[in-house]
Amino acid sequence: MDREVFQERFGMLGDSDAIRHVIDKIMQVSGTDITVLLEGESGVGKDVTARALHAMSNRKHNDLVIVNCGAIPEGIIESELFGHEKGSFTGAHESRKGYFEKADQGTIFLDEIGDTPKNVQVKLLRVLETGEFFRVGSSKVSTTDVRVIAATNQDLWQMVEEGSFREDLYYRLDTVKIKLPPLRERSEDIIPIFRKFVNEFSSKYDSVFRGFSDEARELLTSYRWPGNIRELRNVAEQLVVLEKSQYVDADTLRKYLKGRQREGIADNLPVISDPARQNFGEEYTPGGSTDQALIYRALMELQNDMSDLKKMLGRLIYTTFSGKEIRALPPAMQRSINPEDLGPQRSGEPSSSHDFSPTARFSEDDSLKMESQLKEEDEFSRFLSQEELPSIEETEKFLIQQALKKFEGNRRKASEVLGISERTLYRKLDQYDLT
Ligand SMILES: Nc1ncnc2c1ncn2[C@@H]1O[C@H](COP(=O)(O)OP(=O)(O)O)[C@@H](O)[C@H]1O
Ligand SMILES: [Mg+2]
Repeated sequence: MDREVFQERFGMLGDSDAIRHVIDKIMQVSGTDITVLLEGESGVGKDVTARALHAMSNRKHNDLVIVNCGAIPEGIIESELFGHEKGSFTGAHESRKGYFEKADQGTIFLDEIGDTPKNVQVKLLRVLETGEFFRVGSSKVSTTDVRVIAATNQDLWQMVEEGSFREDLYYRLDTVKIKLPPLRERSEDIIPIFRKFVNEFSSKYDSVFRGFSDEARELLTSYRWPGNIRELRNVAEQLVVLEKSQYVDADTLRKYLKGRQREGIADNLPVISDPARQNFGEEYTPGGSTDQALIYRALMELQNDMSDLKKMLGRLIYTTFSGKEIRALPPAMQRSINPEDLGPQRSGEPSSSHDFSPTARFSEDDSLKMESQLKEEDEFSRFLSQEELPSIEETEKFLIQQALKKFEGNRRKASEVLGISERTLYRKLDQYDLT
């Protein structure tokens, strides 16, 4: 297969030397069983690459199992990866296959591998080296035949130096490393890729995009694109929908870039000539088409991140309320609890707490709990019924605050409930200025 065919087939656009180099490397290793480590910021195409590697391998007729190691609570990650035997912990009513068994004969994609707890890293090393592992609660060795692709947006070597990532596992994963460059390092790709996206969305929405002023085009290529191609794609979609048949100038474009900055305002936007416009930290004032753009953007981002948030919310509800209390919650909130996301069981909980039977009688203790649940529910609904739709960041911050409150500031427990690593929690506390 030549490069163009590959790009067409897997939707990996770009013509820069950097992306060509990456694609050549992907094609070199795709037919083999070799372990591949994908490095790159969020939105650069790690998922796309992993899927392409699998689809071009001899394993393509078997499963590609995708595991986001950063999204699984520490307490259940081992049983998620390696499975467990019946009775191995409270609530393990059935034995269950883990991801490594499900991926047998296929490929396992370990995304955000840097978030794996150290005790699990040892077990990963063993399965990578020998194909052997133990289900939780079993003393019998199991085997699996998987091709491993791992990805990270962190500097794994730095984590090795800090002691949070095992050196031996690092070397095992580092066999073939593919570094996916951020979009700003291949800025010649921005316009062509953008144009492709615009064409795609124009036909999807039956809309016409008129084009850019020179200044807007300049802004498009000099912007930092912290969200990389994912962000470029979102901006293209928004412009097609909201600036339909309009000629887009720099000011208009800036509305779609502004506010998408997560880490440091000044960092993400290029310096522009008009000094009056340089203050991008200005407060957003309601009114005008900015409103529409912001709401639309919030909805789009909400859609993208909804499932993660739903999982976080589900876990929080699940660990905060008893079975009866959960039954009393609004159906929409109950639906956010998906057993698949939760893993086996809250440790130490008798399984009777999962009795959702409506006839169960309330004790005094129950009504006290119910009262506090109602208070918390109130907080949730107050939060959700604010005049403006809360942003993903605000929602995330809110959930983090609730989790910390519930566990009286215990960060380990809070991060477990939220389904993020402690490391991520610390980063977010810092980001949101929470103590
Ligand atoms: N080279 C590329 N050309 C076109 N679209 C891309 C490219 N790389 C990534 N994308 C798109 O960008 C989005 C994010 O890609 P993804 O693989 O999920 O990134 P990551 O896993 O690194 O966060 C997806 O919609 C994907 O289809
Ligand atoms: Mg990804």
